[in-house]
Amino acid sequence: MKWIEVKTYEEMSRIAAELFIKQLKANPKSVLGLATGGTPVGLYELLVAEVKANRLSFKDVTTFNLDEYVGLPQENSASYWMYMHDTLFNHIDIKEENIHLPNGVAPNLHAECSAYDKRIAAEGGIDLQLLGIGVNGHIGFNEPGTPFDSLTHVVELTESTRTENAIYFEEGAEMPTHAITMGIQSIMNAKEIVLLAFGERKLEAMEKLKEGKLTEDFPASQLTTHDNITIIYGGTK
Ligand code: PGA
Repeated sequence: MKWIEVKTYEEMSRIAAELFIKQLKANPKSVLGLATGGTPVGLYELLVAEVKANRLSFKDVTTFNLDEYVGLPQENSASYWMYMHDTLFNHIDIKEENIHLPNGVAPNLHAECSAYDKRIAAEGGIDLQLLGIGVNGHIGFNEPGTPFDSLTHVVELTESTRTENAIYFEEGAEMPTHAITMGIQSIMNAKEIVLLAFGERKLEAMEKLKEGKLTEDFPASQLTTHDNITIIYGGTK
């Protein structure tokens, strides 16, 4: 594990952007694993700026997002599909057919889950996977107690995750109770992982991760067994 401690959110985003740029320069046909949330916004802004300056292209890149809410159509303003298009995809030269998120309105959710891991495998696996982390150590929507060998699956959202994410929903809007998430094993299958965490509220999770005690009660602990992972973290925000 490589740990990089930073002083500012901007520094974290810049170092992460350099890793993604290096990956795309080395392999313009890379398969990227992407994440939503507040943490990667700065990274995505930097990648958009590189594309706009004609220094970077996503035209042959394929992406797979970690998760999506169950029951939210793509055009819902709180869907992760919408977040990704607003934040990144609408501003870069990626092909729509190369973008993958779990389909939270699929008629058969379990078939959708197993198809998702198959789609990733069919693309040759994820070259570089971006991750955030929850204060409880969740990665994707893999909450404490999720088996380390889990593949993409449907989860019931915990009360704390629903409360944390309620800010992304319009007032009065019904918050989903379930989501589809890549499993911990699906994440671990990536060839390289970069985990970003910034702010005081994430520091306790960072301490736990550093302790390195493997336990399904702290899903991110499994990442300590990955042989190519960089953790960029810091700060009081
Ligand atoms: P955040 O979410 O980036 O909004 O803090 C990270 C996560 O819960 O995985």
